[in-house]
Amino acid sequence: MPTIHITDTAGTVHTLDAKPGDSVMQIARAAELPVPGDCNGSLACATCHMIVDPAWSDRIPPVSDDEEAMLDAVFNLSPTSRLSCQIRITPALDGIRLALPA
Ligand code: FES
Repeated sequence: MPTIHITDTAGTVHTLDAKPGDSVMQIARAAELPVPGDCNGSLACATCHMIVDPAWSDRIPPVSDDEEAMLDAVFNLSPTSRLSCQIRITPALDGIRLALPA
């Protein structure tokens, strides 16, 4: 089973099992990290904002126009900001690192 690593705002790294097909938002919520995901992945809230480690940002699918529009409204935007509901785990993403925005 793939694992993902999410660093919280205190700097603690959470290593989580990730079922292929699940989104990073779903995995984070199941681990009770503070990722509301209020719209359940329908690109309507941006409460699933995370920052992808630059070493991994080229390995995930590119940002869609709809995701880009939602990211425009996010605070603490970084060059590798993504909406984690749009990142679906595949075996190729085993070990991906992300961080919760400050
Ligand atoms: Fe709402 Fe990701 S959960 S945009």
